[in-house]
Amino acid sequence: MQALILAGGKGTRLRPLTVYTPKPVVPVMNRPFLLYQLDILRAADVTDVTLSLSYQPDKIEHILADGSAFGVSLRYLAESSPLGTAGAYKFAADALRETTIVLNGDILTDLDLNKVIEFHKEKKATATIVVMEVEDVSRYGVVETGVGGIVDRFVEKPEGKALSSVASKTINAGIYVLEPEVLELIEPGAARSFEYDVFPALLDKGYPFYAYEISGSYWRDIGTPENYLKAHHDLLDGKIIVKNDAESPMFEAATRSDIDKRSVIGEGCTIKPGVRISNSVIGPGVYVDERAVIEDSVLWAHSRISTAAEIRSSIVGRSCHIGRNAVVSAGCVLGDKTTLTDYTQV
Ligand code: GDD
Ligand code: MG
Repeated sequence: MQALILAGGKGTRLRPLTVYTPKPVVPVMNRPFLLYQLDILRAADVTDVTLSLSYQPDKIEHILADGSAFGVSLRYLAESSPLGTAGAYKFAADALRETTIVLNGDILTDLDLNKVIEFHKEKKATATIVVMEVEDVSRYGVVETGVGGIVDRFVEKPEGKALSSVASKTINAGIYVLEPEVLELIEPGAARSFEYDVFPALLDKGYPFYAYEISGSYWRDIGTPENYLKAHHDLLDGKIIVKNDAESPMFEAATRSDIDKRSVIGEGCTIKPGVRISNSVIGPGVYVDERAVIEDSVLWAHSRISTAAEIRSSIVGRSCHIGRNAVVSAGCVLGDKTTLTDYTQV
């Protein structure tokens, strides 16, 4: 069994965070995001992994290298211009000689992939798609299924009439098990998508196309600031248990600072007296000056938070400078190197 991670999107909905950091390696609990996907692949003994890239591929390769530090063997393929999800799969055809797990590179889950693989084999499926129930289906691919999980219909991000016609709350979770025959449905070199081209073609041609429904596992697409922040809160809440074999980071915190037990503080941070930090994740090398307050937020590496500044329910990129008494109120997303002068309110 091999895996292909689709990680070539521009991450536009996660801007400004993705201007200098491609979405697949944005830090989640201070770890590059793709490591969580490598964890679930390795747990299913899938260690032959191809990363399909297009946007800032060198940055990703620089961080993950040959994968040996993470117990997998990584191969990189970069399209010169984005070929779409299925075009990228076809582009990887030479590397994919057997049944392949395909993952959207922005899904945080603790799903046991072995169960999906078993289901795929049992059904003798050509393609298996992992699905789950959500309240609002409009931002996803909607999957209608029949007896035994056979897929009857797939509608990507339905709007208007299409939205009212879908009779399902079940959506595409962005995880597929595909037999190599699926490659034959895709023209080489063309921009093609699983969602708009390949899934409808599988249905048209009557291939055995099945849906495996997630139940009892955690799942979230981290591709918007709101979801990225929620994923952190879920992790801090213990709603998803992830492996963390990193050593406890060393940082310097004044005894008269108040850091709640759930917050995570990165290596080499300095926390001065009177600081209050709760329900937050602080990246390495952040300096938090006296009486600053950080609540429900995620801060990337090397920022400086000046005296009595307040940051609530926000995301602060790398190397920002938040001036003294500045207030960053709920919902802000500050790109790398943002400077807020003293007393600024955003
Ligand atoms: N290599 C490559 N080339 N990767 C791509 C390309 C491309 O041209 N376009 C997108 N990707 C990657 C993205 O990096 C991302 O990891 C994944 O494919 C899915 O793209 P998104 O842009 O995040 O799609 P989405 O979230 O709007 O919708 C998809 O995911 C939903 C689940 O979160 C669809 O698959 C929906 O059907 C699904 O419900
Ligand atoms: Mg997505």
